[in-house]
Amino acid sequence: MEFAQSINGSDSAAIQAGMNCEILDILYIRSNGEIPCNCSFGEQVNLDWAKSDADWDIDKVFYNSRFQHIRDSFKNGEMPWKECADCAFLNKDEPVRDLISQKRITKVHLEPSLACKLRCPGCSRVDQAKTRLSPFFMEPAIWERVLSSLSEKGYSVDLFFYCGQGEPINNPKFNELVQITNKYFPDTEQAVNTNGNHDYPSTIGRLGKDRPDLFIVSIDGLYQESYEKYRVRGNVEQALKFMEDAKSPDNPHPPVVEWKYILFKYNDSDEEIIGAQRKALELGVDRIQFVLTHTPEKSRKYTVENYHELPIISDIAYAQTTVQGLSHSIRGEQKSAQPQEIAPNANANIRVANFFFMKSGLMSIYGFVSNNATTAADRVSLELNGDPIGEIEIDPESKKTDNFFSLATQRPFDGERHKNLRVRLHANGQELAYSDFQYEFTDEANSRNVNPY
Ligand SMILES: C[S@@+](CC[C@H](N)C(=O)[O-])C[C@H]1O[C@@H](n2cnc3c(N)ncnc32)[C@H](O)[C@@H]1O
Ligand code: SF4
Repeated sequence: MEFAQSINGSDSAAIQAGMNCEILDILYIRSNGEIPCNCSFGEQVNLDWAKSDADWDIDKVFYNSRFQHIRDSFKNGEMPWKECADCAFLNKDEPVRDLISQKRITKVHLEPSLACKLRCPGCSRVDQAKTRLSPFFMEPAIWERVLSSLSEKGYSVDLFFYCGQGEPINNPKFNELVQITNKYFPDTEQAVNTNGNHDYPSTIGRLGKDRPDLFIVSIDGLYQESYEKYRVRGNVEQALKFMEDAKSPDNPHPPVVEWKYILFKYNDSDEEIIGAQRKALELGVDRIQFVLTHTPEKSRKYTVENYHELPIISDIAYAQTTVQGLSHSIRGEQKSAQPQEIAPNANANIRVANFFFMKSGLMSIYGFVSNNATTAADRVSLELNGDPIGEIEIDPESKKTDNFFSLATQRPFDGERHKNLRVRLHANGQELAYSDFQYEFTDEANSRNVNPY
């Protein structure tokens, strides 16, 4: 219990034994104003409705009988709904964390649109459109009432996330929704998950400096032939152009752009994965994430067992598992790095890009090393809090300026928040250099690194 208290930094009243789910930290609103119990299996449970009426009040939602039932169930270590058994967000090992009662919301997730022109076979959108009540586009008047109420009641929000089950930018009033968010929460980060099948300058570009901060653009493949096998009716050139225009030197207000590449059986060749990374660098994209999925068309070549073997050639690229895996991973935040040269003029550069523990017990660390050609490095060794944890051979003939290294080994998270990682670089049995990295594993770091979807 003490561990949970120190990790969350919350007061003890809000933390008790039981069960947990982020539903007491977030708010999800669908295009028709419905407030469901998050966007996984809980979507089948209605918690309330957002309305534009002047007397509508967010606290009447957060303290209604259904929210109270969630709180009471978690405190008793029970699942509030039968749907929780399959929900990606339930965490049976965590104590209850009710940030809403402390007036803090980590994520307000809005579905601006249930409409979309694409027909991705794994997407539930078409089925939902048959059964859900309209409208399929969020009305600015409802959004304005929600945000004015959150603001009046003194809630802080860490992130606004526009996604849901359709295509956000298909809402013709998408820009108006963003402007309303800017009006009430000008300092809060805003992120959009889009398929990018839009013209950037005539849509988002019109917002100028008021555009959202981050665009996660779903483009599963580099070539039209592989891309359209999943993104049916989609146009890969248009989606790539969307990212290019967003990051163009002619755009005075470029957002952060992250390419989300889901690994299917049609797009998992090393050639295409490496090509996508080169393309991302060419377009000025900030990050590219390769994501595993659980749908039938998933990649067989790369799975949760070996995804650390993906051919990563750039430090803007990284590998992710699905929501299920991610919501159960603990990620470290790098607090500091101290490089030390052992061999004179080694000109070594050692970087760690990612360090995390998965609930399955797998520990994963990866990064990049380089040094000057006269003492070409051939081995990386790692120590965690002084204990050796593994060695990785690297190719001394490699002409790459950066050599990727990756260690994935069974070693469950031991609960210790502060960790020291030493990465040593060797050549011909001699040590060239090492770097010490201080990591902190906190809930906050965890949620920031988790894909917001
Ligand atoms: C329903 S989409 C809505 C946002 C937008 N239309 C898009 O496709 O990015 C929400 C998220 O689901 C992801 N997604 C779609 N099909 C998926 C699949 N088969 N497996 C995992 N994620 C998937 C998308 O990449 C996106 O991040
Ligand atoms: S682009 Fe997004 S919303 Fe549209 S069908 Fe594909 S996954 Fe669903």
